[in-house]
Amino acid sequence: MEQNIETLQKSGRVIYPPAELKAQAYIQDYEKAYKQSIEDPEKFWENVAKELHWFSPWNKVLEWNYPWAKWFVDATCNISYNCLDRHVQSWRKNKVAVIWVSEEGEERIFTYAELYRQVNKCANALKALGLNKGDRVTIYLPKIPEQIVAMLACARLGLIHSVVYSGFSAKALQARIQDAESKLVITADVGYDRSKTIPLKPVVDEAVKSCSTVEKVVVVQREKNGSALTSEKEIDWEDWLKNQSTHCEALQLDSETPLYILYTSGTTGKPKGVVHVHGGYMVGTYITTRYVFDLKDEDVYFCVADPGWVTGHSYIVYGPLLNGGTILTAEGKPDYPNPGRWWDLIERYGVSIFYTTPTAVRLLMKFGEEWPAKYDLSSLRVLGSVGEPINPEAWEWFYRVTGSNKPIMDTWWQTETGSILVTPLPCVPLKPGSATRPFLGIEADVVDRDGNSIEHGGGFAVIKKPWPSMMRTIYNDPDRYLLYWNTIKGCYTAGDVCHKDKDGYLWFMGRADDVVKVAGNRIGTAEVESALVSHEAVVEAAVIGKPHKTAGEMIKAFVILKEGHTETPDLIQQLQDHVLNELGKIAVPKEVEIVSSLPKTRSGKIMRRVLKAKELGQDPGDISTLEE
Ligand code: WTA
Repeated sequence: MEQNIETLQKSGRVIYPPAELKAQAYIQDYEKAYKQSIEDPEKFWENVAKELHWFSPWNKVLEWNYPWAKWFVDATCNISYNCLDRHVQSWRKNKVAVIWVSEEGEERIFTYAELYRQVNKCANALKALGLNKGDRVTIYLPKIPEQIVAMLACARLGLIHSVVYSGFSAKALQARIQDAESKLVITADVGYDRSKTIPLKPVVDEAVKSCSTVEKVVVVQREKNGSALTSEKEIDWEDWLKNQSTHCEALQLDSETPLYILYTSGTTGKPKGVVHVHGGYMVGTYITTRYVFDLKDEDVYFCVADPGWVTGHSYIVYGPLLNGGTILTAEGKPDYPNPGRWWDLIERYGVSIFYTTPTAVRLLMKFGEEWPAKYDLSSLRVLGSVGEPINPEAWEWFYRVTGSNKPIMDTWWQTETGSILVTPLPCVPLKPGSATRPFLGIEADVVDRDGNSIEHGGGFAVIKKPWPSMMRTIYNDPDRYLLYWNTIKGCYTAGDVCHKDKDGYLWFMGRADDVVKVAGNRIGTAEVESALVSHEAVVEAAVIGKPHKTAGEMIKAFVILKEGHTETPDLIQQLQDHVLNELGKIAVPKEVEIVSSLPKTRSGKIMRRVLKAKELGQDPGDISTLEE
């Protein structure tokens, strides 16, 4: 770990925010604002909440029944109302809410009024299917505006959306539909990736075969000569919305009403359904978007995430819309049709806030500085990074090619935290590679195994007090929720290893558990292992994350074959294809090594740590529990 910290910190420089930016930022003195916010966090959050619309007020800001939290107790609200109605009733009515561009350059623009109409029609269509508050809807869509419309429409009615990233396989989708017991699935015929057509409808067909709860499947038809819908269950999106009214009252919901379930990987083979609620989540995403990116009405905000992941939920859909922002979102990859793709969009739309990932930055770095140099990037004001540690080299490159005067907000957070918890603000001095300091109202720290605070040095990242956008539970699995708060007594354990420097700056180093971050996507090694052992040729498998130049980490699998099977390139390919089918492309091990044994403890647990150390040529540390 120490070695990593050194490489991370090697650039060692401090970058002060441009005076001009600081002078007009919402928060100009972080130290003062932070100190105030944590002297009385409830007061801080209450004041934030007052900037949003509530149908009826709270009796109490927080009810903390360790580790169960209720925020804005007994208040009623609706996040969809706050994202839409509030703006439609103001001058923002005809302001652009969403600009969407396809790979081929097709453009769809939604003003707040138009988005409102689409969402309301969709909400009425959902109602017409007889769906009621609390019912679950699985959304398996590519990155198209219908994804945003469907999410906000569900929220409007108190339906719980479960967005599943459209790169997941039929089996992975099925497991998520089954766990949520969804009544409806919303999908599209296809997605596009580098001009290739990716069929999605067949994936859903396969998945819902054994999902008895699914009553209907709505399909957005993108292909001109698309295949006809085949069963009675299926409805065409356009037909579904066609005759619906453009007004549908937003339900007045208790602030603790579940808004969504989002499945994420953990340390067991089964993904966990993280549950977020209307009130607290709305407050957290609203204020972080505002203060971290300094989002103003004149800004054009471009976030490259997919709403299939939490970043898309919080920082494409909810946070920016709560602020009445103008959002640019683009289908496709950063290097297609050429590596100037995103720089071109920034120039074309005058993007002022650009939120991206370290993996994408490293990918673009490979194509050289001549690509960004071709475009006018002077509209940019604030940059952002999320999902994995950004190494100083990538940080410096990103900073340089965008003009050396736009601060990078290295935002640390998780699906479970709902919103950004550790991050610079535009007024905070930056250290490349560090997510810097906790957000206002957040008490983040680095502690040892017993929960003792570490003044400076390495340890585990924890959050010491509840915050409004924290997850409320794991769907169908409250015990798994408890683990977050019971691992280290008295606080929320994030599962990250972190280093605190002398200035109190936090340097997130990666996961402390068996979760791998491949291109910023979270993958549990146990999920990949259980996919591998479900192949007929495999007895046992162990999976580790291994450093990778662009993706941050890659998956390597060690596999023991059943008797009668021998290692051939064909078999390796078969195993990779098998994982592709079981989980999806993002989980496929790049390397598969056939071995005859695996390091285990005497109780039979695979010691992945030992495998990893061996693979990386490092000292495996304490191996006294190793069986052989
Ligand atoms: C990692 C993504 C370093 C971390 C929003 C965390 C980061 C996990 C950063 C959550 C960052 C996220 N620096 N590491 N700025 N942001 N991580 O749930 O390991 O997909 O625990 O949420 O990503 O991943 P998730």
